[in-house]
Amino acid sequence: MVTQLLSTRRRRFVAGAAASVVIGGLVLTAQSPDPQTAVNNAFTQFKDLKEGKNADYIPALAKVNPNLFGIALVTTDGKVFTAGDIKTEVSIQSISKVFTMAQVIQEQGLESIEKRIGVDATGARFNSIIAVEAVRNVVGSGAPEMNPLVNPGAISATSMVTGANADTVWKKIIGFHNDAAGRQLSVLQDVYKSESDSNQRNQAIGALMLAYGYIKTNWPQAVDLYTRQCSIGVNAKDLATMAATLATGGKNPVTGKQVMDAAKVPGVLAVMATAGLYDDSGKWLYHTGLPAKSGVGGGIIAVSPGKFGIAVVSPPLDDAGNSVRAQRAITAISNAIGGNPYVARR
Ligand code: DON
Repeated sequence: MVTQLLSTRRRRFVAGAAASVVIGGLVLTAQSPDPQTAVNNAFTQFKDLKEGKNADYIPALAKVNPNLFGIALVTTDGKVFTAGDIKTEVSIQSISKVFTMAQVIQEQGLESIEKRIGVDATGARFNSIIAVEAVRNVVGSGAPEMNPLVNPGAISATSMVTGANADTVWKKIIGFHNDAAGRQLSVLQDVYKSESDSNQRNQAIGALMLAYGYIKTNWPQAVDLYTRQCSIGVNAKDLATMAATLATGGKNPVTGKQVMDAAKVPGVLAVMATAGLYDDSGKWLYHTGLPAKSGVGGGIIAVSPGKFGIAVVSPPLDDAGNSVRAQRAITAISNAIGGNPYVARR
C-alpha cells in the first residue's frame, strides 16, 4: 500500500534507510497499512459485532437503528478516509461537552475552567450526584475537583458561555460546533424534545451546581442550552472533522479556519485524556494513548495530535456509556497506523 503512495506523497527516510510516507503528521512505514485500508479492515472486522445496547434513558435514543456503523478519519492535512454509513446523523450528546469547554477556554482562558469546575476525574458515572457531593466546591473552600466532561461540570461550562440572552449564547455554542465540523449543523428536534421531557436529573444537577457556586445564575437556562447542544445532529464525518480540528492545533484542516488558539488545545486534550470515557478513561488510554470523548448517541471521537482525528458512530453502548464498536474500531485503526502519541517515533 505504502509503495503505491510513494510516487504521489511526500517522501521521508527514517533511520535504517526504510522508506516511509507522510500523510499529515502520520508516518507510514512499509509495515503499516494506509489509512483507508486500516479503516476498511476495522469496518469488516466489527460490522457484525452485536455487543452493547442503545441508551434508553432518553427515549428517542432507544429508537435509533442499532446497526448504524460509520467510520471516518481526517488527517491534519485534510484528507478524509471513510467506511460504512457516514451520512446518517445521530445526536452528538456528550461529545458536545468538549467543544463547549473549548469555547469557554478560548474566550476566557485555560484557568477559567480549572478554577470554576476543575480538571480532575471523578471516577464516577457521567451523571453522578454523589460525585458532586464528594468534590463539592463550597465557595471559598479551595479548588474544585470536577471536570467539564461529566454532566455537572458540563452544565456549569455551558453556563459560562457569555451572552446577553439565551439566543446569543446558543448562536455562539452552535457556531463553534459548526466551525469545528466545517458545516452548518442543526438540532435534532425529536431528541431535544425527548431529552427536555426526561431530564429531571440534569435539572436537579443544575440547581445543585448553583447552590454550590459552580453556576452563578439562571441554572434553568444552562440546563436547557446544555440539552440543546447535546441534541445537535452529526454524522461520523462531522465528528472526525471536529476531532481533526483539535489534532491540527485548533485549525479545521478541511476548511482551513482557525477555530481556537493552538496554545489552548493541549488543555482541552488533557481533560479528554483524563475523563473522556468516564470511569473507563484509564483503560482506554492504556490501550490507545488517545484523548477521546464518547456520547450516549453512539459516537466517539479520538485525537492523535499532529496526525489525525477519528470518529465512529455506532449506537450500542457498554455499561460505562461508551459505544462498543466505536471503541474497538478506533483502537484497531489507530494502533495499526501509529496513532498512539506515547509511542516514540524512531
Ligand atoms: O445529559 C445527558 O445525560 C446526555 N445529554 C449526555 C450524556 C452522555 O452523552 C454521556 N456520554 N457518554
